[in-house]
Amino acid sequence: MRTVGGKLYLSYRDVHSTVARLARAIHSSGYDPDLTVAIGTGGFIPARILKTYLKKPILTVGIVYYDSNNVPLESPRTIQWIDEVEKKLTGKRVLLIDEVDDSRTTLAYCLRELLRHKPAEVAVAVLHNKRKPKRDSLPPEVRRYFCGQEVDDGWICYPWDAEDIERHEALA
Ligand code: G4P
Ligand code: MG
Repeated sequence: MRTVGGKLYLSYRDVHSTVARLARAIHSSGYDPDLTVAIGTGGFIPARILKTYLKKPILTVGIVYYDSNNVPLESPRTIQWIDEVEKKLTGKRVLLIDEVDDSRTTLAYCLRELLRHKPAEVAVAVLHNKRKPKRDSLPPEVRRYFCGQEVDDGWICYPWDAEDIERHEALA
């Protein structure tokens, strides 16, 4: 992991180690989720790695908060949601996974949507939390927040976004 030109470059190995740390934190907290929910697309790879440790099924959701010109929408919008949501979420211990807690807008929106389906509990796991003023807050029902690493506000370059992975890994 290295900062180059103000951007934080993370290797696949960094990502995997951060997920392993998250898994240990979740385990030692005593939280035992029945299932995880990955927020696409940044949450997909972290969720899959976490499954190696937690061994729980992954459901996925798609939320958009930016339009095609990269301008934020008034509020996040669901573009894909869980089939037969209630059956899958009601009474269950859920772990919501994303790669980064940035403005917190998408995360807070998604938590509120999940809570509508009366899960036993919803917890959050993110690889990185940026230290910055947040535009939204976590619902009070959310009592467990797991973060692999706190980072200063700035752009994080994840390996899955790299077009030239050799160059990316060399920078990281
Ligand atoms: P938050 O609730 O998780 O804080 O999300 P927010 O709405 O603020 O984030 C908007 C989008 O910007 C999200 O992607 C998020 O993953 C992405 N993002 C924010 N900071 C960084 C960063 O430092 N590096 C990278 N690579 N992405 C960042 P999205 O619109 O959901 O798209 P996707 O990439 O997950 O598909
Ligand atoms: Mg994302």
